[in-house]
Amino acid sequence: MTAPLVISSTGRLQLGQLIAKGGEGAVYELANNASSVAKIYHTPPSDERRIKLEAMVSMATPRLLSITAWPSEVLKRPDGSICGFLMPSVKGHKDIHTLYGPRSRRQEFPDADWRFLIRAALNIAKAFAAIHEMGCVIGDVNHGGIRVSKDATVKLIDCDSFQILVNHRYFLCEVGVENFTPPELQGKPFKGVIRTPNHDNFGLAVMIFNLLMMGRHPFAGRYSGKEDMPVEKAISQFRYVYGGNKALTQMSPPPLTPPVLVASHEVANLWERSFSKNSTTGVRPSGLDSDTNQPRKKYRNLWQEHKPSLRQKPFQLPLVPD
Ligand SMILES: Nc1ncnc2c1ncn2[C@@H]1O[C@H](COP(=O)(O)OP(=O)(O)OP(=O)(O)O)[C@@H](O)[C@H]1O
Ligand SMILES: [Mg+2]
Repeated sequence: MTAPLVISSTGRLQLGQLIAKGGEGAVYELANNASSVAKIYHTPPSDERRIKLEAMVSMATPRLLSITAWPSEVLKRPDGSICGFLMPSVKGHKDIHTLYGPRSRRQEFPDADWRFLIRAALNIAKAFAAIHEMGCVIGDVNHGGIRVSKDATVKLIDCDSFQILVNHRYFLCEVGVENFTPPELQGKPFKGVIRTPNHDNFGLAVMIFNLLMMGRHPFAGRYSGKEDMPVEKAISQFRYVYGGNKALTQMSPPPLTPPVLVASHEVANLWERSFSKNSTTGVRPSGLDSDTNQPRKKYRNLWQEHKPSLRQKPFQLPLVPD
């Protein structure tokens, strides 16, 4: 396949190898620059998308570019129409889900121990908080949007789908994945919905749960009632499997699941709060402590709390809290 003709601010752009194709665009290496890649849309972007991309480029800061694949420059066709954008490369990073389960973790991150997982979790929480600080919302939180390096730093990709606010105008994110969608948005169309950091923080809690609990989903379990209880229905009915009120949830964990306390009382408490009914009104734990604006102390405490066992590989479970 011949690479499309693309113009950047410095003239004709030499595209290199195709890295991957998504639903909306194809991502290419650059022939002369290993630190950036180009995303070229399959179909010409709408005017709305063009204005959004130009606004995102003007919002780019060194911090955003270090934690995300934020658009750094728009790319054009020879006729001047926009066809895509440049962004930092995350080629050395791996999909977050390869860290969840023991088998893929052993293969992709053979040295990862508890410290590594906690560090990755903390970095994800910090990245979410940095996006929110800019007035943006991720919206479509999912496994495909977070990549992890071998030193547990993370990068968010697919940023052109984020919700952004420019000059009092929202550019919405009108897609989402059910497993990461909070109860208040379950079963409703995303079209026209203004997403909030509190919605993202539900997805954040699910993501950290997946990471520290060997890929288990907090709402997937055995339901004692008669009807089927798929994950999205359990989310919409607040049936957090590991929650304190079993009489209400009627859920129990799947077999061979570690207890939530392996992640410490404090983190278990953050999950309980993230998945409770009260959480729908704006109080889900975020990546930052609201009083200090520092990375959440509870995650740091977790690091301290588990010192003796941190060097264990997480696939050596069952691991009991100290
Ligand atoms: N900055 C990057 N560096 C390296 N590879 C990337 C980068 N961004 C995306 N990719 C690769 O390209 C794929 C598609 O990218 P992306 O998710 O942005 O496309 P998309 O068309 O918007 O997909 P979707 O329709 O799922 O949102 C990613 O899954 C990833 O493998
Ligand atoms: Mg996308």
